[in-house]
Amino acid sequence: MSISTRSAPELRSTFPSTPEPLRLPQPTVRVPPTELVQLCYTLVHAAEAVGIRDLADGEYRPSDTTLEQGIERQLNYLLDQVGCDRPGFRLLEIGCGYGHLLKLAQQRGARAVGVNISPEQVHFCNDQGLQAYCGNYRDLLDATDWHGQFDGVIANGSLEHWVQPEDVQAGRIDTIYHESFQIAHLVLDPGMTDARYVTTAIHVKRDVQPEYLLTPWQRQPRGSDRRHFSLLHHWMGGYYPIDGQLAACAEPYFTLGAEVDGTEGYRIANDYRMARMLRGLYTNPKLLWRIARAWVHHPRVTNTMIECYFIERSWDWQFQGEDPPMKLLRHTWKRNPAAGF
Ligand SMILES: C[S@@+](CC[C@H](N)C(=O)[O-])C[C@H]1O[C@@H](n2cnc3c(N)ncnc32)[C@H](O)[C@@H]1O
Repeated sequence: MSISTRSAPELRSTFPSTPEPLRLPQPTVRVPPTELVQLCYTLVHAAEAVGIRDLADGEYRPSDTTLEQGIERQLNYLLDQVGCDRPGFRLLEIGCGYGHLLKLAQQRGARAVGVNISPEQVHFCNDQGLQAYCGNYRDLLDATDWHGQFDGVIANGSLEHWVQPEDVQAGRIDTIYHESFQIAHLVLDPGMTDARYVTTAIHVKRDVQPEYLLTPWQRQPRGSDRRHFSLLHHWMGGYYPIDGQLAACAEPYFTLGAEVDGTEGYRIANDYRMARMLRGLYTNPKLLWRIARAWVHHPRVTNTMIECYFIERSWDWQFQGEDPPMKLLRHTWKRNPAAGF
């Protein structure tokens, strides 16, 4: 499968630059956000000081020289996959980060809406004139005003936070994934033929038990898979699906239309981010100030972040080596209209 052919500037010239926003009420809280995940993005906000506002995978060509080039190619691919190619297309992004995808969608003439549990990121999006709501996507199950309002849905790198190891222990993992497909189905306009939901998610290839994540990382042998899994969880909060799990949970709402492996693009994006962060540690007082402030307010998780990201490099470990422990899969899901409401 080829990666995006159209560039945002090409499309920008064709469509109006500020499409009318969708009028939607703030959803009522049904499932409070997971504190650890919310806190992770309060800490990750330090990276915004060095211009890191893209937190998922990219798709790189040898001639690329910046993080953003590969990111834009990947985001345009997701927009093409979801069918966002006409003015007025109503797009929902679950976990919209700093709004790069929303902005590109707007430039295509779309009416783009984000939902995001990070208050820092939602403020950033709204300050840019983007439409983002602060809340858990799980609240949309009961938010009937949102149902049937969209032509396409994207979740780019947010799914990894939706399940916690405690959910796995309690046997809820498939229920949560299944519910997420139900929500995507509900928010899509039933009259929209060929509606799609596009996801990107890290998948785990090695044996992992929820206990590995819940055991404090200090008690695991240095360099071991278990220690990396624990470090990642205690900083970011989350759990990854395995191959085929999402397809099974998508039924009866969606069927898999396309799958693309983006592992190498994630590794390259991570290299760009690491280089920028390391440079920033020496040159950018705002970055240091934000890390110091995070440490004062949240010392334990900030220590874990520093250990995980800078010292033991667990984030990078995920995509490195001949047979990396994780893979990044981009999925295009076709809505099954027969599933009904
Ligand atoms: C890895 S970041 C990706 C952000 C953005 N899509 C990007 O590519 O830069 C994951 C995003 O998902 C959001 N998120 C995680 N869990 C969420 C939930 N339950 N509901 C809504 N947003 C969530 C986070 O706040 C964050 O913005």
